[in-house]
Order: sequence, then structure tokens, then C-alpha cells
Amino acid sequence: MPLASMMNRDMYGIIKWCTPSIHPHVSRINGIYDNDISISYHSLGNPSINTGIFKKAHNLASIAYQSEHTLFSVNGSSGSNFIVLRSLSHQLKKVHMLAQRNVHKSISVAAEDYNIDINYLQPHYDQDLQIFIPNTIEEFVDGIKKHPETNVVFISNPTYEGLSIDLPRFVQRIRKINPKIVIFVDEAWGSLFPFSDKMPTSAMQAGADICVQSTHKQSSGLQQTGMIHWQGKRIDEKFVMDSYKSLITTSPSFHLLASLDAARFLMQTQGENIINDLISVADKLGNELSKISGVKVIDHDFITKKYSQVRFADKTKVLVNIKGTGIPGYEIAKNFESEYKVILEKYEAENIFFIAIMQNTEYDAIETTKRLKECIEKLSKKNKRSKIIFPDFPLEIKKSLSSYEVINRNIISIELKKAIGLICAEDVVPYPPGIPLIAKGEIISKEHIDYMNAIKRLKGLISIVMSDDKIEKILTVK
Ligand SMILES: Cc1ncc(COP(=O)(O)O)c(C=O)c1O
Repeated sequence: MPLASMMNRDMYGIIKWCTPSIHPHVSRINGIYDNDISISYHSLGNPSINTGIFKKAHNLASIAYQSEHTLFSVNGSSGSNFIVLRSLSHQLKKVHMLAQRNVHKSISVAAEDYNIDINYLQPHYDQDLQIFIPNTIEEFVDGIKKHPETNVVFISNPTYEGLSIDLPRFVQRIRKINPKIVIFVDEAWGSLFPFSDKMPTSAMQAGADICVQSTHKQSSGLQQTGMIHWQGKRIDEKFVMDSYKSLITTSPSFHLLASLDAARFLMQTQGENIINDLISVADKLGNELSKISGVKVIDHDFITKKYSQVRFADKTKVLVNIKGTGIPGYEIAKNFESEYKVILEKYEAENIFFIAIMQNTEYDAIETTKRLKECIEKLSKKNKRSKIIFPDFPLEIKKSLSSYEVINRNIISIELKKAIGLICAEDVVPYPPGIPLIAKGEIISKEHIDYMNAIKRLKGLISIVMSDDKIEKILTVK
């Protein structure tokens, strides 16, 4: 029983700076085995058709999250994104979506499955910090003018690293151009937002039509749990309910659903204090880490000053540039995990990334710093690299087909150098920055191929998710 044994044996004594964020005092759901139950207990109601006790819990959540309607999800924001896009494609018949490039794969895959046409805005990428930077509101406005057929605007706000735009102004600007456009926000990383004025305005508070949140990421829901919230007349409830009922398992775990109810209650009653504590632990961690030589903690104000479209940087997240240590982020993170029992949220070539979660204490911040210092000293004795030069991320997008059109064409895998000018038949996603370099249906340029060849030479410092992990061939439309 490798997985069962690991869960029962190895989960103690580690320090986590990663999701899920579970508050030690959140109401626990008893008896994960003893009380497991299904919809055969008829008098409880049925979550997938929103009746009984489930409807009561959903309604309480809609009050807490300031929406008109809320549904609980047991398949994270990934499942919720499918539910929302299915319902929009049934409601609007044909979805023409304008989107920022940092979409989660659930969005690109659902778009392909539901014949949704996506026009991506040209992305911004900070080549030093190696993170995606949001588009400006005016770029969205120009995008709508360029694609007047747009009936859905999609934005992942905040970004993974916690950067948010001025969402209320964004909503107002879009309404002004075309009040019929549906505004859909992937707020997977924003489930904390409604509970503190130290957090940005949430999608519902800003007046967006529909959003998804991952409650497990930062708000005390168990893994897999999330919520869908919506409001107003642009969303037709019957299509959302039809998609919810069609895509949610007929046997959702009542424990997971109940953990959402408990998370809602916790955040509604204690959210403000909990968020203050998270920020102070994150601050402590940042202050401690910045004492280590070669380690640079990225100041949130530095980002908001550098990019005027970034209205807010989430202070529970700590981005740390480790370029000065001469050791790649992935080497630090892997060693930190195996030798020092500290788990980071993510790592990249030159960065490591921490999320302060509700289990963390100031002791964790001090202990983590002590262990990181030791880890870096040990690794630098072994391996000192010369300065690494990264190629610039090519930002220009030339779309030829929608992704759903590509899957009906003949597709062949060909050598990179022969692919210039052809239509790409797969998503090519380098990490960092975790946004597609080329999306399915876009034209492959010389800059893309040069970038991929440069990455090959960096030998694992940047990885690319694509069909050929040797980065020698690429899928194209014949
Ligand atoms: C922006 C965004 N949307 C959706 C998801 C998927 O969320 P979940 O893991 O809850 O399915 C993620 C996951 O990291 C994400 O970053």
C-alpha cells in the first residue's frame, strides 16, 4: 500500500509552505470512515440538484462570499472551470472568449471540448522575476475592439504569484464598452479576498458575473474543494445547474462538502484575524530569509510600483530570487524537501516560492531560514555554476485556428527547425513562466524555435511541457 502507508507514516515533522492551507481550529468533520454516507440518506437532500441541507450550506456561503448563488465543488477549480464553460457554451450557443494568457489548463482543455473560440491577449512577462504580469485594462478594451464578437471576457485574477489588477475598474470599463459581455474570473487563488481589507476586491465584490475559487488552496477547505459563485442576469441559473449536475460526481464526498461549510464559517467569523496572522508570518519569513547571502526576497511594493496595472500583490506569498546563490531553484527545493523536510509551493530556475498557510507559525519562519541557509551552504560547496543567461520569452501571438478545429485535422510530429510557419497542434508550456509559449492553433515562429533550442541548452533549468520531452519534435497541422 505505497500511498496509504506514506500518508500514515511520512506526513509528520515536515514544514509546509504550500497548499492546502488548513487552520488548526477549523471545525473538523468527524469519522472519515465511520460516517461516510451517500445521497441514499434521502432526507439530507442532494448536492448535485442543490436541495436540502446542501442548499442551506450553499446559501450561507453565498452570503459570506457576497454572491447571489454559490455551489460547492469537489473537483477543485479545474472541475469548476469545466462547469462554467459548459454552461456558458450552452447559454450563449457560441462562446467567443477574450482571455489573458495565464489560463489554467482546465480552461484551454474545456475550450477545446466545448468548441470555444479563445483570443489571447499578448502577455507580459518579467524576464528577471520570471513571472507572468497581468495585462492592463486598456489592453482588454483594445482586445474587445479588435474582436467585437467577444461575448465572454476571462481573467485569472490573482495570478499564481498573487498579483491582482483593479478588478472593479476592469468590470466598469468592460460594461461600458459592451454591457452584454459575461465577465468570468478564475479566482482560484482568491478565496481569502472577501474577508479582509488587506486583500483586494473579490470578483463578486467587483461586480463580475461568475467566478471559481479553490477553497483548499488558501482557505481551510480539504484538498479538491472549491466554490462557484455567480450573480446578476447575465448568467442563466438553469444552464449552470444543468452543467453542475452533469459534471459533478453522483457520489461526492460529504466530508469534502462539509469541509467547505466549515471553511466558510471559519472565514466568515475569524477571517480578518486569520489573514492578519498569515501576513505577519509571511513578513517574518521574508525578513528572516533576506538575511541569507545570495537570497533576495522580492518586495511586493517593488512589483506594484514597476507595473501600474498591478494594483495589489498578495502579502501571504513570498517570492524569493536565489540567483545570487549560484544554485538553481529546483536543486535547492529538491534538497530542501528530501534533506531538510521543508516543502515549498513551487520553484523555478532562479526563484523559490513560499505561501504562508494557516498551519505556519513564526517558529516555522525561523526554522525554515536556518535550514535554508544550511542547505545553500552545503550545495554551494558541491556545485558553483557560472552565470546563467536566459533567452527572452517570445511574446507575439499569431492565431490561425481555434484549438477545437485543430483536433479534426491531420497532425504530424516534425523536427523543430522544419516547423517554422506551420500551425502548432499542441500547447507548448515552459515553466517558468507556466503560460503557453505556443497554444494549439497558433503559428510557430523562428523566435519560438530559437527559444526552445536555447532551453534545450539550459539542460533542465527550464522545463517544457509538450509531447516530446527531448524538445526535438513538435506536433503540427499537416
Ligand atoms: C489560476 C488557476 N486556476 C485553476 C486552477 C486549478 O485549481 P484546482 O487545483 O483547485 O483544481 C489552478 C491551480 O493551480 C490555478 O492556478
